[in-house]
Amino acid sequence: MLASDKGGSATRLRNSGSSSVPLRAPQAPKTRRDRRPNLQVVPPQPIERGGVSPKIAAFLAREQPQTPCLVVDLDLVERNYIDLSEGLSPARIYYAVKANPEPSILRKLLRRGSNFDVASRGEIDICMGVGIPAERLSFGNTIKKQSDIAYAYAKGVRLFAFDSAEELDKLAEAAPGAQVFCRVLVSCDGAEWPLSRKFGCSPAMAADLLLAARERGLEPIGVSFHVGSQQTDLAQWDVVLAQVASLFRTVAERGLNLRLVNLGGGMPSRYRTEVPDVRAYGQAVIEAVRRAFPDQMPDLIVEPGRGMVGDAGVIEAEVVLVSTKDASDDKRWVYLDIGKFGGLAETLDESIKYRIETEHDGSETVPVILAGPTCDSADILYEKTHYELPKALRAGDKVRILACGAYTTTYCAVAFNGFPPLRAYCI
Ligand SMILES: Cc1ncc(COP(=O)(O)O)c(C=O)c1O
Repeated sequence: MLASDKGGSATRLRNSGSSSVPLRAPQAPKTRRDRRPNLQVVPPQPIERGGVSPKIAAFLAREQPQTPCLVVDLDLVERNYIDLSEGLSPARIYYAVKANPEPSILRKLLRRGSNFDVASRGEIDICMGVGIPAERLSFGNTIKKQSDIAYAYAKGVRLFAFDSAEELDKLAEAAPGAQVFCRVLVSCDGAEWPLSRKFGCSPAMAADLLLAARERGLEPIGVSFHVGSQQTDLAQWDVVLAQVASLFRTVAERGLNLRLVNLGGGMPSRYRTEVPDVRAYGQAVIEAVRRAFPDQMPDLIVEPGRGMVGDAGVIEAEVVLVSTKDASDDKRWVYLDIGKFGGLAETLDESIKYRIETEHDGSETVPVILAGPTCDSADILYEKTHYELPKALRAGDKVRILACGAYTTTYCAVAFNGFPPLRAYCI
């Protein structure tokens, strides 16, 4: 937690780390000292990771959009793409469209040379609608309707994931000759948003299925995994890659040479806890591949979602009510005009802990329980996790929820309790 700037010249983030651009500079009375001309040239500050970029701050100040809304800075998405593709080179980027399928984000990434990981027929349509050719798509969901596989195949998609014999049957029928990769089970230790249990199969089963895929007229090319989203433990890739390399050897002994490792996602956004930067991840992941495959580096795919867009977006929201349940309560309830059903679904089990800025930052704070606006008692964002917000916070005040570019707009309900879906502006 930061102390406020001397003289209250800029508001600062309270409950989490440092801020970037002030929400609103408080109108501190001018002192004789303030009126002295400031002759010192202050160099521009680098944008703090996951903070409010000057472009987003200017947009919010100028447009005063209705809240809640998400504003994504496309320049930051582009910067993330460059950092990810350089940091994880030679892996090819397949942006996980599910993180944020806004067409302007897809167009920006298309122009930069990205490929795309899609989860559904709907995402295929969005991608092709902005001009992404089918050969740049990978249908990475292991749970697909056969009719959707056929749809994708008819559109020209030739790369598919699977993790079961039953899915392989569908692929053999609806996507003859397609390239397929098998997803293996991963524990997802260290991930704040784990993707374990539901996806993947054991390496032993994967070996059998890859060989069966060849029998079925498909082209088995490799293996995929996902170490869990918002993975904070860089060593996790090492653990899985050792298993993947062993799987490669097992199937090679049975006459099948695989060539692709799909490293999945897991690269983080900057929420309350500091995380290593993209380059540290890149180095750890690529070195882990080298250790696992010392003789020959396989072709590599990486599918960043959160790491591509999370830090590039900010939600502006409004305080609807500040109250207590009893005069003796030491914790206040702060109800926002956005909650679990309005886009902040990743607060489920208080997993993702967003940073929140207010216009009173720098003043005295009190412990709070944060909740959304709907008539559903599940719509509580943080009750167990300690959050503090300024005592001065009142209904009608604006707050900014940082690093919300991933997994927000698409998670929100269409009209739960009559609240409209989260508006998004990509600038
Ligand atoms: C198959 C697949 N690839 C990539 C991703 C993106 O993961 P992340 O947002 O952690 O980068 C996901 C997320 O659910 C996924 O299911």
